[in-house]
Amino acid sequence: MFYYYGRKKQIARHYPPPERPRIVEPFAGAASYALHGDHWRREVILVERDRRVAEIWRWLIEQATPAAILALPDLRAGERSSEFLHIVHAATKMAFKYRTIKVTPILARNWEISRRVMAANVGKVKHWTLIEGDYTAAPEVDATWFVDPPYRSAPGRGYAHGSDALDYDALARWALARRGQLLFCEGEFGDYLPFRPLLELTGVAGKRSRERLFHRPGAGEAADAGAALTRRAGTAGPA
Ligand SMILES: C[S@@+](CC[C@H](N)C(=O)[O-])C[C@H]1O[C@@H](n2cnc3c(N)ncnc32)[C@H](O)[C@@H]1O
Repeated sequence: MFYYYGRKKQIARHYPPPERPRIVEPFAGAASYALHGDHWRREVILVERDRRVAEIWRWLIEQATPAAILALPDLRAGERSSEFLHIVHAATKMAFKYRTIKVTPILARNWEISRRVMAANVGKVKHWTLIEGDYTAAPEVDATWFVDPPYRSAPGRGYAHGSDALDYDALARWALARRGQLLFCEGEFGDYLPFRPLLELTGVAGKRSRERLFHRPGAGEAADAGAALTRRAGTAGPA
């Protein structure tokens, strides 16, 4: 939706499609998976701990209109801005630490593109729900869970809430306890789940990065519905 370091927009098509009518992104960022193709039509729940990122989502979901977005002023190279929505458009994760940035030609261009993208897509998110908080604040629901945390070690540093603040073993236990389909993204240092290679990307200055994925397809809808019915009837059923 907006430019964001670590977003999955360019590679969203490589992930398995959602199997469930509800998608939860407990590490929302710019929510590229939920916005890919027509995934957005489902019920979508975002969880984001960074207050400034959550604020952008609240604005997009509750207030922003295409006209208001297109009326946002241009950015000119050389000027300064303290707007977080501008700052995320700097093509570096260092930008997350800045309170004010000097607009570069790249940032001005990213902003111009993003404004158009946001205006064209804002209508897709009006039925979405945002929860500002830790990933554990996500509701206990059956869903397609797209778990894309800051990657373990160096690749996940730089965010306001980055890899140094995460307990990855606890995160893996939490993710495995989710009901439904689980898509869990990691980079080359993720060693806490049996991640499989998804693809290799060539980034800035030819730097290669490995994208890996742990995919646990959801058990059949019928099985879940059956378990819920058994529980409601008061008979013993799977927990
Ligand atoms: C790799 S980015 C997600 C990118 C996203 N999939 C996209 O396509 O734009 C990870 C996000 O998780 C957020 N985050 C970090 N720690 C978190 C936590 N404990 N709970 C929820 N969100 C967290 C970061 O602020 C960041 O926005």
